[in-house]
Amino acid sequence: MEPVDTIIQDFSNKEIFTKYKETIRGRDVFITQCFNSDPNKDLVETLILADAAFAASARRITLVLPTIYGSRQDRKSSPRTPITISTMAKLFKSVEADRVITVSLHSPQSAAGFYSAGLRFDNISSARLFLPLMEEMNKDKDFVIVAPDVGALGKASHYAEYLGCDIAFANKKREKANKSEITAFVGDVKDRNCFIVDDMIDTGGSLVNVANMLKEEGAKEINCLATHLILSKDAKQKLEVAPINKIFGSDSVHHEELPDKVEVVSLSELLSQVIYRIHKDKSVGACVEEITKR
Ligand code: R5P
Repeated sequence: MEPVDTIIQDFSNKEIFTKYKETIRGRDVFITQCFNSDPNKDLVETLILADAAFAASARRITLVLPTIYGSRQDRKSSPRTPITISTMAKLFKSVEADRVITVSLHSPQSAAGFYSAGLRFDNISSARLFLPLMEEMNKDKDFVIVAPDVGALGKASHYAEYLGCDIAFANKKREKANKSEITAFVGDVKDRNCFIVDDMIDTGGSLVNVANMLKEEGAKEINCLATHLILSKDAKQKLEVAPINKIFGSDSVHHEELPDKVEVVSLSELLSQVIYRIHKDKSVGACVEEITKR
C-alpha cells in the first residue's frame, strides 16, 4: 500500500489546510495520527483530514490513532467535568470515520463510547511486543510487577500472570491534572527487582513517585514499561535522575531525543499488519496472536 501524497499546512492565522494530491474516490483510506507535542492541533488536523476524505468520496475511512486525545478523561471525575474520550468518539463519527484503531487504550471500557457512536473500534494490546523482552529479563531478575495506581492493575496483573511474577500496587490520588501522590502501597518488594507497568508517562510524576517509594521499601533494580511516552514538560530530565534502570516504551509519540535509559519498541510492524488485515477483511485477532507467539 502506497501513502497518498498529501498537503498539510497552516494558513498564516494557524488555521489548517489539507489536500489529497491524488484521487481517493472509492478507496479504503487509513489516516494515521500521533497526538504529539500539540494534541489540540493534531485533533483538528485529524478531523479535517477525515472529513476531506469523505468529501473526496473515499469508500471507507479508518483513523489509526496509537494514542487517542482525552483517553484519560474517561469518566466524570467530579461534577461538571467532561468525558472527553466519548466526545472524541462523537467527533470522529461526525466526520464520517468508519473505524478507529488504537493501541493499549487507557481504559479498555472506553470502547463502549466508540461502539455507541456507531464506530468500529480495535484496541490492539502492545503487550505482545513487550512480553518477550520482559520474559527474557525475568529469567535472571525474578521481578515483582508493580501497578503504580489502581487503574493500571488490570494491565499489571496480565503481565504478572503471563510471566508468573508476584504483583504489588500503589493507590494514587490526583488532586489536579499533572499532580499526584501515593496514598497506600500493597506488596513486598524488599530486596526484589521490580517492573512497573503503566500505559503512559506524561509528566513522569506518577512514575517517579512510585519508583522513589519502591526504593524506600527496599527494592533493588527498578524497570518500567509504559506504552505511550508522552513526556511533557521536564519529564525527560526527571526520568534521567529517577532511580529507574530501564524504561521500555513505544514510538506512538515521536521524540527527537530520549534519555539513554529509554528503549523504544516500534509499533509499525504491528500496526501495518492490522491495517493490511482490515483492508483485506482478514482476522485481526489472528495477526495479533501470531505476533504474540514470536
Ligand atoms: C493515569 O492514570 C495514567 O495511567 C498514568 O499513570 C498517568 O497519566 C501518568 O501521568 P504523569 O506521568 O503525568 O504522572
